[in-house]
Amino acid sequence: MIESNAVEPRTSPTIERRRGEWWRDGVIYQIYPRSFADTNGDGVGDLPGIIARLDYLGPAGLGVDAIWLSPIYPSPGLDVGYDVSDHERVDPLFGTEEDFDRLVSEAHQRGLRIVLDLVMNHTSDRHRWFEASRSSRDGPYADWYLWRDPSGVDRQGRPRPPNNWVSFFGGPAWAWEPRREQFYLHTFLAEQPDLNWRNPGVEAAQFGMVRGWLERGVDGFRLDVFNVFLKHPDMPSNPRRVGQTAWTRQVHRHDRDQPDFADLLTRFRALVDSYPDRFTVGELFDGGPDRAAALTTDRHLVFDWELIGAPWSARAFEAIVERRERTFGPDRWPTLVLSNHDQPRQASRLAASAGIDDVDGVAKAAATLLLGLRGTPFLYYGEEIGMIDVAIPADEIVDPPARRAGPDFPWWNRDQCRTPMAWTGEPGAGFTTGRPWIRIGDVRAGRNVADESADPGSVLAAYRRLLAARRARPVLRVGTLETVDAGDSDVVAWIRRLGNDLALVAVNFATDDRRVTLPSPGADRQWRPFAGTDPSPSGPTDGTHLTLRGLEGVLLEPS
Ligand code: NOJ
Ligand code: CA
Repeated sequence: MIESNAVEPRTSPTIERRRGEWWRDGVIYQIYPRSFADTNGDGVGDLPGIIARLDYLGPAGLGVDAIWLSPIYPSPGLDVGYDVSDHERVDPLFGTEEDFDRLVSEAHQRGLRIVLDLVMNHTSDRHRWFEASRSSRDGPYADWYLWRDPSGVDRQGRPRPPNNWVSFFGGPAWAWEPRREQFYLHTFLAEQPDLNWRNPGVEAAQFGMVRGWLERGVDGFRLDVFNVFLKHPDMPSNPRRVGQTAWTRQVHRHDRDQPDFADLLTRFRALVDSYPDRFTVGELFDGGPDRAAALTTDRHLVFDWELIGAPWSARAFEAIVERRERTFGPDRWPTLVLSNHDQPRQASRLAASAGIDDVDGVAKAAATLLLGLRGTPFLYYGEEIGMIDVAIPADEIVDPPARRAGPDFPWWNRDQCRTPMAWTGEPGAGFTTGRPWIRIGDVRAGRNVADESADPGSVLAAYRRLLAARRARPVLRVGTLETVDAGDSDVVAWIRRLGNDLALVAVNFATDDRRVTLPSPGADRQWRPFAGTDPSPSGPTDGTHLTLRGLEGVLLEPS
């Protein structure tokens, strides 16, 4: 195993025993708290629910290494938690402060880390900072948000926004505040005003908040839209370009990715690094692997979106993997993300992209990619049971941009991937005894933890096998990666290598059998399958020839 450079963690003896670069070796499981497990019957998942399911996730169960919680802070809920009204506390909807501390300590006892979602680009308009800031041009919070005078008046005499910037959630990025007679900037909803990070008070307050969570034992953070924190200080209009939507009709040159962001990031990362064994992952708000790699440093990863945007095509995945390997190089560590709370479920999305009916087959093959490629895998809750998108009727839509979607503003409904975790096939799915906050998918078909636990052919069983194989073999966690030409355009294959250890992974994207050619594992050695999508993975028939079943993924090692 690669030498650890971790400083002694003081969190728990269990973690001490499992010491390593957990953010690189480990699998991070994303929980959308309101949809994971509800213990008090109010229909909303909560922290005691997560505590009750730690054994499902921990070493005695699935065997992930860390849990990333989507926002748990008090919030009016207009962007379902990403509009935070107090970053220092836990929303009573999810539980008490004591519940949170108990979650950290119970997770640590099982060797599981806790990663929080930090939403620092904006606050809710109900945050006390914004309430003070909008009330007057004077006062300690007056400059904590991005206030600007109008650029003039329109023909009706209404104030005109300062520039042409638009909101990602539709409409202009500026909202008028009559009390100040000024506009404020909001990259997302008008109820999510952007903070002015160039005000030293904002940085000090945010860093103080971060320190508070670190002191409570939090192991890391996911940083919401972090490359947007700084905008051009003069706020010039963005250049225009041809595009399908108001957002894509602009080059986002001035409303994100500013040169002094690197310094801000360095200060922030130094704060996190002053606590042992912590990590962060930044959410790149648009951008490819080159931008992600440029912002990646040791312990501080960055999401890029090529994998999540790919269709179910061997050639598309292979090209992305090769580009990532070139871009990140041996010294920078990439992330592996096939789904999250913003995108359609991977089984639904990928199967639909190739017109495949066998969604569970695609879910299992995708698991081989997620857990077999090089990088830290982020596993979105429910993917391990092959959860699929749930159709949400128009009158039940919660996702705010989806409510305003129309011909001028195309939007996918993010509710469809945020539905309750399916624990059992009973009504309520073992998620709640009450009325769920959003509708539950069809769990009777066997796509739930209880039924899948009893079926070795299930998606869950495949995830358990692949996770166990990964845990047992450092080469799969930290080895280098080279793609291999297996001679079939619907198959992707690659070698992982760590010192003398080798593993070969092959995934058949097609639904029919494919015979492929493997590289030789070396003199007097044979490739032996040790795990895969199927309980009995296919092995080579004669030395280097292997017939993969449709949608089969296999992991092999020399023996
Ligand atoms: C990115 C988050 O992933 C998304 O859910 C949210 O709506 C926006 N940031 C705004 O915070
Ligand atoms: Ca609850």
